[in-house]
Amino acid sequence: MSDFTSGFWSVYVAAATVIGIAACLLLLWVTSRKKVAANADNTTGHVWDEDLTEMNNPLPMWWVGLFILTIVFSAAYLVFYPGLGTYQGKLGWTQKGEYDAEVEKATKALEPLYAQFTARKPEELAGDANAMAIGERLFMNNCAQCHGSDARGSKGFPNLADGDWLHGGAGEKIAESITKGRVGMMPPMAAAVGTSDDVKNVAHYVLSLSNSPHDSLRAQLGKGKFMACAACHGADGKGNPAMGAPNLADDTWLHGWGEQAIVNIVNNGKTNEMPAQSGKLTDAQIHVLSSYVWGLSNKPAAAAAKP
Ligand code: HEC
Ligand code: HEC
Repeated sequence: MSDFTSGFWSVYVAAATVIGIAACLLLLWVTSRKKVAANADNTTGHVWDEDLTEMNNPLPMWWVGLFILTIVFSAAYLVFYPGLGTYQGKLGWTQKGEYDAEVEKATKALEPLYAQFTARKPEELAGDANAMAIGERLFMNNCAQCHGSDARGSKGFPNLADGDWLHGGAGEKIAESITKGRVGMMPPMAAAVGTSDDVKNVAHYVLSLSNSPHDSLRAQLGKGKFMACAACHGADGKGNPAMGAPNLADDTWLHGWGEQAIVNIVNNGKTNEMPAQSGKLTDAQIHVLSSYVWGLSNKPAAAAAKP
């Protein structure tokens, strides 16, 4: 009801409900009073399918009884539960309250299970098939929409199943990424680099770092300009997990490959955000998820950790 912007709609809905129920009662009352004139043989004169005749009998009592029962039930329901506009009901029941109580109950029931998990480091837990099954489900429900159901990501959303990390791939670094979220921010750098030709040159230098096809003359000219990038990406372009600056010397491209993609990023910068999960998931769930994600890119080690 919170989306009703005026009291009118609350009254309108409540009135429609009450009038609807009253109309049912009225209908029952009227039909029990009013007798339709019938023929001598108690038929109404209506005949269907050649020989199906309509009789003029009163409603059976069991049916009327049921009808009255449903009316009494709905009246009682509307007293105790929310249903009449913004009226909350005598029991104070809410959908959210019920949901919260269920979640709390489930969390309590799972506590001993999760306690076994949190006692182990992600690098060990990744070998536990039980924990990994839970991790996979948590991932599908909370992470797959951005990182893909195989965790291989897509443009702008990092692949979590390769060994390449923006913010670090140790168990506790992964947990930190999930708990607090991450913001990767690169400012527009065109002004610091120089002319648009300089930007193109530095892009070719970046391409040369990973031995991607590039213009070697431009790369040579761009090398000096990479100074402006080194503070974050490192002098060798291998990145810096403390800043979330990606390795530019490998073949992994989060935001697209090639001269144009790099020129765009240098000109416009890039801000990319992973939302913090601490309010959504419990610490124990995040622990299991971190182990699951760690296991994806450390398959042999995870297999070796199997009990
Ligand atoms: C709304 C989209 C979104 C959702 C949902 C999301 N992520 Fe992310 N995640 C991102 C983005 C974008 C980044 C990259 C941040 C950056 O560029 O620094 C990221 C980064 C990460 C990283 C760091 C990767 C690295 O290379 O260091 C991890 C780990 C991660 N996410 C795990 C998860 C897990 C586990 C979940 C589910 C609980 C999840 N993410 C849910 C968008 C999302
Ligand atoms: C202040 C730190 C900072 C500076 C300076 C900086 N970058 Fe970045 N750069 C980043 C961060 C952080 C990201 C990752 C953005 C994200 O999380 O998606 C990034 C991303 C990139 C990417 C995308 C990589 C990919 O995998 O798609 C390229 C290319 C890039 N930078 C090139 C450069 C170049 C060239 C310069 C110098 C002209 C430069 N950067 C200067 C921080 C910086």
